[in-house]
Amino acid sequence: MPTELLLIGGATPRMIEAFARDFDIVHKTKEIADLPAFLAEHGARIEAVATNGHDGVTPAIMAALPNLKIIAGYGVGYDAVDAPAAAARGIVVTHTPNVLNDDVANTAIMLLLATTRRLVRDDRYVRDGRWTGFGAAPLTRSIAGTKVGILGMGRIGETIARKLEAAFGCEILYHSRSPKPVSWTYVETPVALAAAVGALIVITPGGPATDKLVDRAVIEALGPEGTLINVARGTVVDEAEMVAALIDGRLGAAGLDVFEAEPKAPQALFALDNVTLLPHVGSATVETRQAMGDLVTENLHRFFADGTVVSPVPECAAIAKVRA
Ligand code: 8YV
Repeated sequence: MPTELLLIGGATPRMIEAFARDFDIVHKTKEIADLPAFLAEHGARIEAVATNGHDGVTPAIMAALPNLKIIAGYGVGYDAVDAPAAAARGIVVTHTPNVLNDDVANTAIMLLLATTRRLVRDDRYVRDGRWTGFGAAPLTRSIAGTKVGILGMGRIGETIARKLEAAFGCEILYHSRSPKPVSWTYVETPVALAAAVGALIVITPGGPATDKLVDRAVIEALGPEGTLINVARGTVVDEAEMVAALIDGRLGAAGLDVFEAEPKAPQALFALDNVTLLPHVGSATVETRQAMGDLVTENLHRFFADGTVVSPVPECAAIAKVRA
């Protein structure tokens, strides 16, 4: 019986080549006109899915793949896959942790600097001829030696904290579900963390557990002098509250890589000088995306070669065999 893979969304040419080596047939959702009809006909033969953090696997697709054995995700975040439901069906879900820590952390710091130093505003200042017309641009704020709050102290949160401390002398405070074995100051609630710092960097997982964790109270605790950076998921921040607070000055500034309804970002932000907007590119470098792609293909290759995987999600730890 041939091994068939369903590729949901896009993949790099290098990944496609690797899939073609390991699988007899690679079905690409991008080339399938009527997906429900396709799944009704071919779903039972598909044993593997490769997907990305944005598309994930919908419940309808999961239900249409009765013999699915593995879902290999391209990205560390897997909130678009119902991992507990997959684990209950014996399906191993994998993701791509660690290889993107540096680039996502660098993106967070880039957004923090760009936002506090008003990089985009001042770039426009030069291009629009305001420098020659009106003279020096208004002063901005320094991050050197300031207090920065990290919301979510996982692998990437730790990388951000280490870099900010070493390179900019920032004092790091953090909040996560429980204190971690790190040297930085743990703060009991997101509101207390926001109240204690000048900038808050959001780097939690997405999904129901963190939905609108950064709510009106957190935003107002950060306040008119505060800067909010989000490199996690748009769902973690109450976007409507954030937009309103930025417009009426209850929140100082924001640097955002993620949004509630990507690829749409709120139009109301486009005219604001106190925001920096990125199109979800935290891990989007050639080097990191290659490493992520290689981890996806290695997870799939090993699984069908000897039943092991490299990087299962925690929900699948009990059903996945990890080769040391
Ligand atoms: C990717 C991400 O943009 O790793 C994640 O969780 O959000 C990103 O690295 C995404 O997975 C690619 O679709």
